[in-house]
Amino acid sequence: MDCRRNLLAFLSLGGATSAPSHGKPWLPLPSRLTGVAARTETRRSLLVRRAVVTGRLLALAALATLAPLSGCATWDTEAFFPEDYQQRFTKLHNCKKSAHPTGDHVVVWINDIGRDAFTQRQFPLPQGTVLVKTQYSDSACSRLSRYTAMEKGAPGDAPDANDWLFQLVDERGGVRDCCSGGDPTAESSCVGCHTPCVNSDLVCTAPPAAGP
Ligand code: HEC
Repeated sequence: MDCRRNLLAFLSLGGATSAPSHGKPWLPLPSRLTGVAARTETRRSLLVRRAVVTGRLLALAALATLAPLSGCATWDTEAFFPEDYQQRFTKLHNCKKSAHPTGDHVVVWINDIGRDAFTQRQFPLPQGTVLVKTQYSDSACSRLSRYTAMEKGAPGDAPDANDWLFQLVDERGGVRDCCSGGDPTAESSCVGCHTPCVNSDLVCTAPPAAGP
């Protein structure tokens, strides 16, 4: 919820610059101002301050109501996996260096539809299987850089790719136009590199070792 925190920071900053917090009038009052004028001035700045506080409260209320619905909810509905995939999917391995030349460090996840078939090495995997590769720019897998995902479509969805649809998703959940439905050359680059993994239905991550 980084964006929500940024918005909050923005709101409190906005308040600090528009409302003087030290209680003095905004401009130095000329000494010839009468007591009445000074009182009016103070009252006016009180009113202004009250308006600023009310405005800020209203903005906060609006933020609390709207944030989950809009602004912060940037996760693309077209993404093959939900934002809380770490709660719903099974992690296939811990953080490790990718075999992909530019893949940095990765963790791979699989959804429930494909999990048992994959761990039992029953290929091809069922329609609806989703695999997510979470990519990080550091060896501790703490700095998320992006995701790549693949979803097993219906028979005929992608005849040249065992019906896998490929997807690139940025670190905020935005689907990047790279693969399926986009540039066919880019799609073939995902598929092309996964082709050597044909014995495991184009999945390059090895299933966990069989039990003892
Ligand atoms: C240069 C070769 C290469 C390219 C290009 C490539 N991949 Fe991969 N991909 C791999 C390898 C190798 C793995 C195994 C995990 C690892 O070592 O990173 C993998 C793993 C994955 C996984 C996890 C499931 C699995 O197969 O292990 C997904 C999902 C994935 N890639 C999606 C994509 C998408 C989407 C694209 C295109 C945008 C793409 N890949 C392009 C080599 C490649």
